[in-house]
Amino acid sequence: MNYRVPRTRKEIFETLVKGLQRLEYRGYDSAGVAIDGNNNEDKERHIRLVKKRGKVKALDEELYKQDSMDLEVEFETHFGIAHTRWATHGAPSAVNSHPQRSDRGNEFVVIHNGIITNYKDLRKFLESKGYEFESETDTETIAKLIKYVFDNREIEDITFSTLVERVIQQLEGAFALVFKSIHYPGEAVATRRGSPLLIGVRSEYKLSTEQVPVLYMTCNIESVNNIRKPRVQRLDSSTCLQAVGNKAVEFFFASDASAIIEHTNRVIFLEDDDIAAAAGGKLSIHRVKRSASDDPSRAIQTLQMELQQIMKGRCPESPGSSLGGGVGKAGNFSAFMQKEIFEQPESVFNTMRGRVNFETSTVLLGGLKAHLKEIRRCRRLIVIGCGTSYHAAVATRQVLEELTELPVMVELASDFLDRNTPVFRDDVCFFISQSGETADTLLALRYCKDRGALTVGVTNTVGSSISRETDCGVHINAGPEVGVASTKAYTSQFISLVMFGLMMSEDRVSLQDRRREIIRGLQSLPELIKEVLSLDQKIHDLALELYTQRSLLVMGRGYNYATCLEGALKIKEITYMHSEGILAGELKHGPLALIDKQMPIIMVIMKDPCFAKCQNALQQITARQGRPIILCSKDDTESSKFAYKMIELPPTVDCLQGILSVIPLQLLSFHLAVLRGYDVDFPRNLAKSVTVE
Ligand code: G6P
Repeated sequence: MNYRVPRTRKEIFETLVKGLQRLEYRGYDSAGVAIDGNNNEDKERHIRLVKKRGKVKALDEELYKQDSMDLEVEFETHFGIAHTRWATHGAPSAVNSHPQRSDRGNEFVVIHNGIITNYKDLRKFLESKGYEFESETDTETIAKLIKYVFDNREIEDITFSTLVERVIQQLEGAFALVFKSIHYPGEAVATRRGSPLLIGVRSEYKLSTEQVPVLYMTCNIESVNNIRKPRVQRLDSSTCLQAVGNKAVEFFFASDASAIIEHTNRVIFLEDDDIAAAAGGKLSIHRVKRSASDDPSRAIQTLQMELQQIMKGRCPESPGSSLGGGVGKAGNFSAFMQKEIFEQPESVFNTMRGRVNFETSTVLLGGLKAHLKEIRRCRRLIVIGCGTSYHAAVATRQVLEELTELPVMVELASDFLDRNTPVFRDDVCFFISQSGETADTLLALRYCKDRGALTVGVTNTVGSSISRETDCGVHINAGPEVGVASTKAYTSQFISLVMFGLMMSEDRVSLQDRRREIIRGLQSLPELIKEVLSLDQKIHDLALELYTQRSLLVMGRGYNYATCLEGALKIKEITYMHSEGILAGELKHGPLALIDKQMPIIMVIMKDPCFAKCQNALQQITARQGRPIILCSKDDTESSKFAYKMIELPPTVDCLQGILSVIPLQLLSFHLAVLRGYDVDFPRNLAKSVTVE
């Protein structure tokens, strides 16, 4: 929203579309915008909605095809909203995409991230009042509900934020919402519960406050039919944020900072049930007071993120145009995923920076320091995540058990919740999440908190829900990850958990040699990762051989079982080939039946305590005419005798080997997807951040 900052409609489109493109990793099956139809001076206002199935690019093209859309018309004050969708209720289509509207006149329009679990009841209620629904979405009920509340208001001059307060009283589930209405021109109202929402502030002038005071409403509303009037403290300049002297200011509402970072790095994170309203250049925040300990203000925070971190950049390490279908002549990456794979020498270094002291062999994770005593006294560690983040927990389980000498459970968040897993006050629960927003992981966090456990977040997103709701945590510092298939976040999560183990074992005399060995291993990782990345051409050639296959098995055990799970997940996610990560110890209990001359199988065999057992598995495979492609250590002379193909990796400490062995599989999945003609960064049906259960 711009206030006293003249912007042409074209500039408004560009701001909205670019913001959506940066958020596209959250969903990309359809997109839409709502903008003011008329100039500020016009009495008769209307809202123009443009929606399109497909990626944001399709919407962008559609915007410029619209009749009677004057692109040069200038707005002193304008509020536009835009959304990119990942379908939960209703198939991807223009009508199901957001903004959703209250009626054909677009009196109220809303965009929504999350899921409304009681939408069927609300829809039934609204249909009984004569509202006709056009989409299959849960979100449309919100648009209709606000109109219903507006049409049945008992005071003529009800404020926009009061309407929204009444609406959210009726909603169950998770949401971040932004509303726009022809009845409140130039006003924006946004709210959240469970889903993230932040507000960026940009002004050339000094701001009136750095801490926006929260205004408390004094009553609750029980049902749609029993609407009472909430009383809100009076708004004056001391309770609002504005540019001093009521000068020009712009507010940006977004689900995450990447959408707005090119405009401002000054942001306010809203809390659950906050209602933020911007009008006349002023921003105010209301809420119903829940408890005496409610924080009375929301601080403006300055983010450290740089725009270049979320753009595809140059690749110093990549072998340039020799990459088939990969890196272009200029050395620019063709996909975020590829860029992120090649960033790993730096990202793992950044994860360790300032935390591991290689001279003294000590590790300090500042975010855990205050709770270390309590953690050391705990009964067990429970490490919880989804997808790749779960695999990082599997990958480090053994080293955590070794270094902490505690029982370690690793859990998929959804299954952990399904089982109503017993959790005790003396448990310490870790929540691993790149985005910090995954709904299942967040729910598991709340579940453990309710049971009194100490909660620790391991995330890549400052200010995310998980980082804010946990008692303490570790920021993995991998830098923004945009590709849906997670790569550099995995290796940084892995290292963060190893660092935690090292910190826990600092006083254990019997573990000192082992600790020093691991710390030396950490120090050499960036260089070794570069060496692995130099195998890219070889992996591309392997992909050329495999890309027409329907299935690909990945097998290993011990420290590298997680590598197999993660490698198979990468392949599934972006190549759509069937792929399975198999524990070599289970080979004879089923998977062996799949083995023949045709079935491609990758085996991860490293010089670790499982080496001899892996050799057995290898024999069993070759005895059934299997043709294994072996990922092994370059000092391994035995495995080569049985290999159909080999990828040789530099050796490192056994418990860190998984960081190196996953990279060829990341590269392989990338090349397979490119060769199969798929969009690497936007695999079908998936989203990077799954904020619904
Ligand atoms: C989605 C993504 C995966 C990711 C998982 C967990 O499924 O597509 O790449 O591993 O969510 O996400 P998180 O942000 O919690 O690590």
